Amino acid sequence: MPQIAPSILSADFSKIAEAVKIVEEAGADLLHIDIMDGHFVPNLTFGPKLVASLKEKTSLPLDVHLMVDNPQYIIPLFQDAGADWISIHLEASKHLNRDISSIKQAGCKAGLALNPASSIHLMNDIIKDLDFVLLMTVNPGSGAQEFIESSQTKISQLKNWIKGQNLNTLIEIDGGVKEINIKDLSELGVDIFVVGSEVFKSEDPKATIIRLKNKLSKQGRK
Ligand code: DX5
Ligand code: ZN
Repeated sequence: MPQIAPSILSADFSKIAEAVKIVEEAGADLLHIDIMDGHFVPNLTFGPKLVASLKEKTSLPLDVHLMVDNPQYIIPLFQDAGADWISIHLEASKHLNRDISSIKQAGCKAGLALNPASSIHLMNDIIKDLDFVLLMTVNPGSGAQEFIESSQTKISQLKNWIKGQNLNTLIEIDGGVKEINIKDLSELGVDIFVVGSEVFKSEDPKATIIRLKNKLSKQGRK
């Protein structure tokens, strides 16, 4: 069954530990932590110390999304902080093979994030080394944006490519996932859904997560 990774970007930053407890109790599968450096994207969020603090508070795997330039310098900071999954942006890495290898060497799951306009074929020579692909379905930098509809074709293309190559690479999508679209998106073969504002801006985040998971459990999958 597809998994839910709530993004704390949309949580109340003064109550992050509480927010994490709520989504963990609701049955979230991973915790998505958006790291922004103010260069790769026009926003600044968290550092490795937040990840280290959350590591002590939750048993959820920490899915760290690095929206940073020169990720080679940043990857070790988040490995040491306790990240379990680390994704870097294809558009930010000058040495993809080396950066993905360094994520895996520390025992983290290695993912490559693609912006909406980046073709999946740019991954031709790295896809086999990836544990997951993080398809951005909004432009990175903030939460609560509209899902970019053309992403649906891209998701299907990636799913077909992965199946055609007999790979086990997981597809995680990130941005604009809502109760209203998650069922259809699941039918395209998405494995992990990042959900930010739909959860943390809702009246009852716990109930929202439970409803999202119910929609996924009733789903026939391709
Ligand atoms: C955007 C982040 C996303 C974002 C998702 O740059 O990478 O993870 O928090 O938020 P929603 O679900 O509100 O689009
Ligand atoms: Zn993200």
